[in-house]
Amino acid sequence: MPKDFPAEKTKEWADSLGSEMMYLRLGGTDWVFLNSSRVVEALMEKRSAIYSSRPYTMVGEVVSREHRLVLQDYGERWRDTRKAMTNLLSGRSADQFRPMSDLESRQCLYELLETPDKWWLHIIRFTASFTVNMVFGVREHGHSDLFQNLSNAQDIFLRNMQPGMWLVDAFPQLRNLPKCLQWWRPYGNRMYEYTRNAFKGYYDLMQSNTDKGIQPECFSTKFYRDPTKSAWVNDFDAKLFVTGGLIEAGSDSTKNQLNLLIAAMATDPNTWIAKAREELDSVCGKNGERLPTYNDWDKLPYIQAIAKETMRWRPNVSPIGFPHALTQDDEFEGYRFPAGTVVTINHWAISLNPKEYKDPNKFDPDRFMNDDLWKPMAGHYGYGAGRRACAGFRVAQNSMFLMFSRLIYCFDVAEDPTDPIDTYHIRMTPPPGKAYDPPFNARIRVRSAAHRRLILAECKEHYTDEEVATDFPVSRA
Ligand code: HEM
Repeated sequence: MPKDFPAEKTKEWADSLGSEMMYLRLGGTDWVFLNSSRVVEALMEKRSAIYSSRPYTMVGEVVSREHRLVLQDYGERWRDTRKAMTNLLSGRSADQFRPMSDLESRQCLYELLETPDKWWLHIIRFTASFTVNMVFGVREHGHSDLFQNLSNAQDIFLRNMQPGMWLVDAFPQLRNLPKCLQWWRPYGNRMYEYTRNAFKGYYDLMQSNTDKGIQPECFSTKFYRDPTKSAWVNDFDAKLFVTGGLIEAGSDSTKNQLNLLIAAMATDPNTWIAKAREELDSVCGKNGERLPTYNDWDKLPYIQAIAKETMRWRPNVSPIGFPHALTQDDEFEGYRFPAGTVVTINHWAISLNPKEYKDPNKFDPDRFMNDDLWKPMAGHYGYGAGRRACAGFRVAQNSMFLMFSRLIYCFDVAEDPTDPIDTYHIRMTPPPGKAYDPPFNARIRVRSAAHRRLILAECKEHYTDEEVATDFPVSRA
């Protein structure tokens, strides 16, 4: 399995085999890749009760000490941790953060207007500030030391998760060696300390703001103050991984979706954008009369379709799927899978299969203008599948709706003719130390003088340039 862009290889294998499932033995572990939506539905969705654990990973056990929800086995601990997060992320709770994304997106539009050549940094700031604000009640500059440490921790997590990175992931029986011979442990323990300290940074800030009397009441103030019913979740380090893990899970993924929108706008400026603008102009006015808001949700169905299409077009959070593990023996259409088999959605292969999606390399939101339009998870696997599907999808949909509609309404995006975008190979997870490099080259320009006036009138006042704006009160719905 290549370490660089494995999804290209697993798609190639799926295409050449032409089968709906594909078996791979990675070391001592059985892997099954699901290559069609039919088998994903049949196994990951319909049999979710037994397809929802996670395989053993060194990152899960040592670097995260079982605290990272996304890597936890399916069981009581996962249920309790997920519940703590769901209270924040689901239904009406998710909608209480709409004023925050409104505020952050206004700042983002103003920054894009003033310094469009740094567009990707403004996107990083938007997602960082929104997520930190949601969890800790303070705004974020996007490259403060606190956020940088958290990004590094995420980088450590993602890089060490790559299949083939650690022998013990492929041969979990190596864990039977005496601890002193487990060569991965000293490194893993160091990375645990790094991650814990990175997550603790925002907790310490909250404490110091509380002492100064300027900490707004928010998810974290309640979460650290009030004991939960679960012994797992009450553990202080577990709590650090809940709050840090939320920022980790929410900021990078949403940033990638916004970058993909920019890439799609730059590479195909004439077709779907005209349609989106027709819809936006009919709601907000042809001459930049007002910004789209959450009140326009029902009137902008095409924006929903665009959000889904960015998830399908270039799956970025999990191009080879986020691996699930089977908890008991199973049989499907004559094939037997033993408990412990790692089962994953061959996401890149499915998304770009012409049998699944007509003309799959074309960015075409129209493919989602159907009866399932308003079901954010239907028709693609951008949020995963089954009981392990993304816990933050409502928050993500809200952010995408607002930023997508405002970006398309206010800005034109073009490719740099001397450096065209290779959308197939867009690097969403940059190499270490390159987090603040542009993922690709694009030219962003305000759509008209009227849209410029609109941004100056409605966004400028929200601009802040503080590193971590601790004393910036945010109105809550
Ligand atoms: C558009 C943005 C996002 C995308 C594409 C995305 C995608 C995903 C995917 C693919 C998974 C793994 C699913 C699986 O194992 O089958 C996941 C899990 C998760 N996501 Fe998201 N996500 C996004 C935004 C968010 C946000 C905003 C939050 C919270 C603030 C969040 C929180 C989580 C959590 C907590 C999990 C772990 C769920 C579990 O293991 O039970 N995500 N996400």
